[in-house]
Amino acid sequence: MARLDPHSYADRAQAVTKSFDLALEVCFVSHTLRGTVTLHFAAPAAGTLDLDTRDLVIEGASVPFVLHPAEPILGSRLELTLPPATTAVELRYRTSPEASALQWLFPEQTASGKHPFLFSQCQAIHARSVVPCQDTPAIRQTYSASLDVPAALRGVMAAAPLGRQERGERAVERFVMPQPIPPYLFAFAVGEVVSRELGPRSRVWAEPSVVDAAAREFEGVESMLEAAERLFGPYDWERFDLLVMPPSFPYGGMENPRLTFLTPALITGDKSQVNVVAHELSHSWTGNLVTNANAEHFWLNEGFTVFAERRILEALEGAELAALHAALGREELDKSLALFAERPELTRLRTALTGVDPDEAFSIVPYEKGYLFLKTLEATLGRERFDVLLKTWLSEHRFGAVTTSDFVALLERCEPGLPQRVNAAAWLDAPGLPAHHWQPASARLERVRGLVGRLPTAAEGQSFTATEWQLFLEATPSPLPVEACRALDTAFALTACKNPELLVAWLTLATESGDAAVLGRVEEVLGRFGRLKYLKPLYRALLARPDTKPLARNIFDRERPRYHPIAQQVVKGLLEAASA
Ligand code: BES
Ligand code: ZN
Repeated sequence: MARLDPHSYADRAQAVTKSFDLALEVCFVSHTLRGTVTLHFAAPAAGTLDLDTRDLVIEGASVPFVLHPAEPILGSRLELTLPPATTAVELRYRTSPEASALQWLFPEQTASGKHPFLFSQCQAIHARSVVPCQDTPAIRQTYSASLDVPAALRGVMAAAPLGRQERGERAVERFVMPQPIPPYLFAFAVGEVVSRELGPRSRVWAEPSVVDAAAREFEGVESMLEAAERLFGPYDWERFDLLVMPPSFPYGGMENPRLTFLTPALITGDKSQVNVVAHELSHSWTGNLVTNANAEHFWLNEGFTVFAERRILEALEGAELAALHAALGREELDKSLALFAERPELTRLRTALTGVDPDEAFSIVPYEKGYLFLKTLEATLGRERFDVLLKTWLSEHRFGAVTTSDFVALLERCEPGLPQRVNAAAWLDAPGLPAHHWQPASARLERVRGLVGRLPTAAEGQSFTATEWQLFLEATPSPLPVEACRALDTAFALTACKNPELLVAWLTLATESGDAAVLGRVEEVLGRFGRLKYLKPLYRALLARPDTKPLARNIFDRERPRYHPIAQQVVKGLLEAASA
């Protein structure tokens, strides 16, 4: 046994999937998919082939198979026996209503309230609950797929659409993905969605009542693509379409190729969160083209992407805004490092994740510590030389899978001695933040920081942008005296604020401070959005105080069925940790 990835049964010595053909029939009554998949191999193969599955019922296969009992984290090994010179295998199966990659929404969980909705979220290791496969980013695969859906609904996929055929009450939509992708980028959704054109290579899909606001919020997407291409080279995925998800989507965005998934919480009317679009777009280079070989090197996806995101922001909106985002990131990083006090090993950039669920290890650390490492390299080398390095990284590993050692090797080769000079070993393999690191500096940033610790005047508060408010609140030491919370809220009506990002920063601070006046609003937010970035701080704040702990339990008991399976798992973990 020679495993390629701590989170997959894929074995180096066995056949390698090159492409798959998938047919999925969507049943909103049983909450299951009926699937047929043919895996095609890179070369004829024989003997054992281990596939990843989770909660699948295997109904038949073109070769002998054994489905082993589920192991924690990994799921069930599907052991196939390939006759000599096998080039492909076909499997027939059904998914479970509890498939970890899928959320089945009832009509009342959508904007229109009229139709059900289904979507997938495969990163990091959930693709195996939708299709039996070699579920490791080390094995890139092309695919074709069809979705058989109720005719009243539309199927969309992170792939090129080939057309739709109506057959009475059902419709079949076909897709092809000609560029090889890691399995975690397989993605689709089914629901009542319509689209608006945004530019020559982009449209936005959303529920009818949301689509026009979405089109306004994201109208700048083509200029973003152009800025990104100037920085990182040609866009390789042809289309950059967006799909606005229902509010229970557990992430801010997910970089599914050709079709980025976004939380509706980004639609605030003031474009204050388009950095999330810049982030997902950046993954088209860092992550989707140059992909972490497994979750232990996740920082190569996310740290590089935060770096690219802020370079795009800087190009489009100026260095001041990029610095504000960097400062916000730094606040979040410090909080996250403190939360990992008991598991400091998870704050290394290169992590050891055998026996650790990637969803449990997930935090902002690979994002913001990775970003600071790259900014430190950039500051040491100067931008011009760093950009050469970045371009070399992207071109040498295009459509490849990378590890942290690949990056260190590139640094050493292009800039001999650099890893030692910046103490790369401490960044990569030691917990916490090295003493010498780049820090954002800007006039607006200093101004906001200068106001922390007192109540801003009406004029000062009104001059803040949403991002500045967020930074002000994140930088305010917690807990505050309840009277200070009340004074802030009376002066600036923060509890009534409609920008979820700012609202959550405020509600977290106020809840941590024991300000009972905000609890109704906290409850409302926890019932409305499923984005983990909002759920985690709010549940943590409630759980941190004896007087609000029972409320956390009550809210979770009530809202749980409406949360995404990943969010259910994560919040359950917080509740358990709080009662331990
Ligand atoms: N790829 C991630 C989301 C993800 C990571 C899903 C790991 C599952 C496992 C996506 O690109 C992301 O980072 N989203 C952030 C956006 C933010 C950093 C701008 C989010 O959801 O908050
Ligand atoms: Zn990301």
